[in-house]
Amino acid sequence: MSNNRVSRRQFLNYTLTGVGGFMAAGMLMPMVRFAIDPVLQKAEAGDFIATEKKVADLTETPERVDFSYEQVDAWYTSQVTDTAWVYKEGDKIIALSPICKHLGCTVNWGANEDHPNQFFCPCHGGRYEKNGKNVPKTPPLGPLDQFEVKVTDGLLYIGKKVPNKLV
Ligand code: FES
Repeated sequence: MSNNRVSRRQFLNYTLTGVGGFMAAGMLMPMVRFAIDPVLQKAEAGDFIATEKKVADLTETPERVDFSYEQVDAWYTSQVTDTAWVYKEGDKIIALSPICKHLGCTVNWGANEDHPNQFFCPCHGGRYEKNGKNVPKTPPLGPLDQFEVKVTDGLLYIGKKVPNKLV
């Protein structure tokens, strides 16, 4: 018979450490998973959403283009409508997010009489140049995000939001 007997105190220590570790792992794993989940998600081929906008109709003046898609949140599926400000620059198509980088209001093109060729945020007077660059000394501290775009059969498709590459 072995002399390496486990004392009652040791047994309790091992048991409580094991149970504590198990419970800590159980609490931490969902948090870690939640934190890194977007990184784990693969971009899918269907990430571009068709709009009804004909590319031939786009001009150099930003115009509002709405698009909608199904969003799946766990077991709940909803129809989401989003917007982009879209214009042509030469043969390039630029699509900017309308979400203000100050506190998230929606910006509009040419809405301020004093600055007709800029995006204007009505909430706190934030302004952006046509390429989305925030105007210094107005509340936003960064440029408007950009959407990836592609053209299929003459129609505009909007992709995911990316940091502004124009400024
Ligand atoms: S939310 Fe746009 S300026 Fe404040």
